[in-house]
Amino acid sequence: MGKDKLKKFAKYKSIPFCYENLSFDQPQLLDSQNQAVSIAGHWKSNLGITRGDLILELACGKGEYTVGMAEHYPENGYIGVDIKGARMHQGAGFVDEKKLSNAAFIRSRIELIEHFFNPGEVDGIFIIFPDPFLRNRSASRRLTSPPFLDRYRKICGPKATIRLKTDSPELYEYTLEVIHEQKLQINHQINDVYAGPCSLWGLQEIQTFYEAMHLEAKKTIMYVEFNLFA
Ligand SMILES: C[S@@+](CC[C@H](N)C(=O)[O-])C[C@H]1O[C@@H](n2cnc3c(N)ncnc32)[C@H](O)[C@@H]1O
Repeated sequence: MGKDKLKKFAKYKSIPFCYENLSFDQPQLLDSQNQAVSIAGHWKSNLGITRGDLILELACGKGEYTVGMAEHYPENGYIGVDIKGARMHQGAGFVDEKKLSNAAFIRSRIELIEHFFNPGEVDGIFIIFPDPFLRNRSASRRLTSPPFLDRYRKICGPKATIRLKTDSPELYEYTLEVIHEQKLQINHQINDVYAGPCSLWGLQEIQTFYEAMHLEAKKTIMYVEFNLFA
């Protein structure tokens, strides 16, 4: 690891609301002091949420949605999840600076997500510019593939929605097929997010690191929001 990455990583590790777990054998979350913590079932109270929702941002990268949504909707709790701590340090730094008490980060593989939350604890999931894993043999690694949807069902409540924002026509089409096959309801489908005004707050207002690059390359940005349960 380069010096700069190590520094960013160390900063991520020093912030109190950042947790991590990297072990498939012992999927226990550790806090910034490397102490094992049991927060499953208590995330809302930990984030000071009394009436709002608990929303995850999976593959959060620098955590732009976690920070932007937490600021705009203080009644909800937001948790960014990614394997790359050096990327998340930026979002974690903003949460720290802005003193947002309703946001947190987990450094882990999303494959382990069911170990960190109790059944029904999560109300919604953002998946923002995930890797499309274009090869057919990698399809099960796509974050909207049936195995991942099954993982999300273990921790989400019955009204949970999945919100995908992507520049990949292949991933978008694939996700629409999964939705169709599983007979899930689509709540919003926008084939070109920037074609006109948008009533869903955050879709145009929050742009992530990868999104900025895709917009620069004149790519079309697509969005679909669907119910996780039929
Ligand atoms: C293309 S980047 C997008 C980052 C951010 N959402 C953005 O729009 O700038 C995809 C991110 O997904 C993360 N990722 C991919 N597969 C993952 C997995 N199985 N578990 C945890 N993180 C994963 C990568 O580390 C990377 O940060």
